[in-house]
Amino acid sequence: MSLHTPTSSTTQRTQVGIIGSGPSGLLLAQLLHWQGIDAIIIEQRSRDYVEARIRAGVLESGTVELLREARVDQRMNQEGLPHDGFELSLNGERHRIDLKGLTGKSVMVYGQTEVTRDLINARLELGASIVFEADDVAIHDFDSDTPRITYRKDGQQYEVLCDFIAGCDGFHGVCRKSVPQQALTTYERVYPFGWLGILSHVPPVSHELIYANHDRGFALASMRSHTLSRYYIQAPLDDLDNWSDEQIWDELEIRLGVKAGETLQRGPLVEKSIAPLRSFVAEPMRFGRLFLAGDAAHIVPPTGAKGLNLAASDVRYLYRALTEFYKDRSSIGIDHYSANCLRRVWKAERFSWWMSSLLHTFPQHDAFDRRIQQAELDLVFSSESARRSLAENYVGLPFED
Ligand code: FAD
Ligand code: PHB
Repeated sequence: MSLHTPTSSTTQRTQVGIIGSGPSGLLLAQLLHWQGIDAIIIEQRSRDYVEARIRAGVLESGTVELLREARVDQRMNQEGLPHDGFELSLNGERHRIDLKGLTGKSVMVYGQTEVTRDLINARLELGASIVFEADDVAIHDFDSDTPRITYRKDGQQYEVLCDFIAGCDGFHGVCRKSVPQQALTTYERVYPFGWLGILSHVPPVSHELIYANHDRGFALASMRSHTLSRYYIQAPLDDLDNWSDEQIWDELEIRLGVKAGETLQRGPLVEKSIAPLRSFVAEPMRFGRLFLAGDAAHIVPPTGAKGLNLAASDVRYLYRALTEFYKDRSSIGIDHYSANCLRRVWKAERFSWWMSSLLHTFPQHDAFDRRIQQAELDLVFSSESARRSLAENYVGLPFED
């Protein structure tokens, strides 16, 4: 008698197996759907968990266009806040970056939480499903023409046979880790502080975002709506319990350089957390029939508001490449996927690193470093070409194809 209990496995078949239902996985599925390409999304967390995660807030115009292409723009058009500029502050002295005037483009303030909800609703309205709460998700044989995904749900084992696997499972996901180590080169910088973020149902201090460099550390005033404010301060990691709500508001008041006539309205906090800051890139982003997209392949510190936008940029290349493959029987897009993505990724990495270096106080900095940082900010305040370069990067660099 066998000691093993026979396990029956249900087999499913799709064209693209997508791991992860963050913005990259959901957007990819939606764009593929409109091209007649079938996908299955497998997510390890619950729908409630995925929808409640508070993260990015600023969408580049290219990301807005892609959401329109995916036909998930209805609520964003009504509730999103187009922003034509933001302010940079040095020890309370504020200067406006006129994004629209410098580049002709704006950004859209619309939370990642809302983007995710819209995408999930849109997929479910199509009658397509998302497998939430999948356990032991694993990918197999992606170096062959017959890749497979396996997972367990409610005690039942499943196998998904597919043509391609899209690894949209974030920084801690299983896909990048499944690639043989020798096939991957990684680049990383970890910053010696975090961002303490809060959310409160109060009107924002200003109608535009304020990025502040202050001797006491960085601060950012952002928003989700005219009545919902999102604020951040630079803080040591693992320091959350040492901050009372009042201390956070006091610190924001000082660092942001709140002007006469403005009010930093205080209210109960509906969220309070500290996120680490990291720069990370894994190259290449394709291995046989596995494609990494979004945070699975790269991380940026949030200072440049690029994380979500880079995820969308990868998805744009990937859905076009897969469409070419199925419609034109061409592998050109697939073959160029990694190089195309990485060109934009590295520019966004550079910009996010530069914005972070410009705006935070660093423990290793001496008085000379601090003066150089202030001189660089002064250059941005006084030189239109320096401001234009910043603005071009912030609104999103053009796609090269
Ligand atoms: P994710 O959003 O991470 O989605 C990946 C999905 O895969 C998740 O739903 C996860 O549960 C799922 N998954 C993971 N492992 C598995 C598995 N083994 N099997 C199945 N599913 C799996 N960007 C900004 O621009 N501004 C910000 O303020 C900002 N704040 C952030 C704060 C935090 C704490 C984090 C982590 C990121 C933040 N970002 C910010 C970055 C931005 O949110 C990300 O760039 C964006 O979420 C990337 O989307 P994604 O779909 O690639 O990855
Ligand atoms: C946010 O609103 O959460 C936000 C905005 C701009 C950033 C980072 C985060 O650069």
